[in-house]
Amino acid sequence: VDARDAGSAWQLWHDAWMDALFGDAGFFRRPEGPAGHFRTAAHAAPDVLAQALLRLAGEHGRTGIIDVGAGRGELLNALQVAARDTGTPLALHGVEIVERPDGLAPEIGWWQSLDDLSPETLTGALVIAWEMLDTVPCIILEHDDTGVPRLVEVERHSGRERLVPMEDHVDLSFDAILWLVPNWPVDNDPGRRIEVGGPRDEVWRQLVVAAAAGRDVVLLCVDYAHDQESRPPNGSLAGYRGGRLVPPVPDGTCDITAHVAIDSVAGAGEAAGAKTLMLTTQREALRALGVTGRQVPGAPVTAASLERMSREAELIDPHGLGSFAWLLQKV
Ligand SMILES: C[S@@+](CC[C@H](N)C(=O)[O-])C[C@H]1O[C@@H](n2cnc3c(N)ncnc32)[C@H](O)[C@@H]1O
Repeated sequence: VDARDAGSAWQLWHDAWMDALFGDAGFFRRPEGPAGHFRTAAHAAPDVLAQALLRLAGEHGRTGIIDVGAGRGELLNALQVAARDTGTPLALHGVEIVERPDGLAPEIGWWQSLDDLSPETLTGALVIAWEMLDTVPCIILEHDDTGVPRLVEVERHSGRERLVPMEDHVDLSFDAILWLVPNWPVDNDPGRRIEVGGPRDEVWRQLVVAAAAGRDVVLLCVDYAHDQESRPPNGSLAGYRGGRLVPPVPDGTCDITAHVAIDSVAGAGEAAGAKTLMLTTQREALRALGVTGRQVPGAPVTAASLERMSREAELIDPHGLGSFAWLLQKV
């Protein structure tokens, strides 16, 4: 599409994405919530995940868990049941952009802004951002036919794209270049896409800074991710609606998501004062927490044990959820 096309609904991808997910009529404000459109580990096997996270919390001596980007509280409800059943005293809180969901257990606290996190609640807590950073909008660049990087604009209602010169948005382009030089291998191939992860780093930095208002806080980020060795040359932007992968159209009817540059996020946390305790795959992290996808030796094989095994296997599948990154940091 010609960059001088006189369309009225063209926006930079970052801005259109932000509005489509978090604006007044944004996708994540829809009543059905994320679970109505895609399946995260918290939907696939909440009980297995809750037990593993309780173990992680125990290993790090945590007194509470704060789930940031908590969806409709699916993981928190499972954590509440697991904590009750094992007699584990654990304060549970969620942070989301929507009001407290109806089905949330009364013991669980709920906030609508990170600013509401108090130092007392943060102290000793495990702060979790589960599949949250992939929804934070990136700035998107694409190399034109001559190999020159341009900003990508999108037409809100069709998803059509066009390239505009970086000079048209000087400040944003400056931020994008500052991020991509150390983080994304640059070549001159026409058509190459770059998903600038600076806004994700900034959200993580803010979480670390907020956490530092308390004492002894551990933060866990879990997401589909890439690092210097595995950046996607054509980007990873995708849409999800009603359980299906769909073209990413920023009209508020589908999720818009892209993989997370997890090494850069880790660096942003460290620059804000956090120490990295672990950066590994979900498969390795969950196996270390006792999620093996195997029958417990000596235990009887029952329909329930087989069903649990299959859900454990889904969480640690090396080609699926098991390939997600787990970043654990401490402040
Ligand atoms: C992909 S969903 C994942 C939900 C849940 N964690 C799960 O794994 O099922 C991402 C969620 O993060 C929330 N989110 C994104 N940025 C947020 C922010 N700054 N504060 C609170 N919630 C946020 C969105 O509203 C959305 O519900």
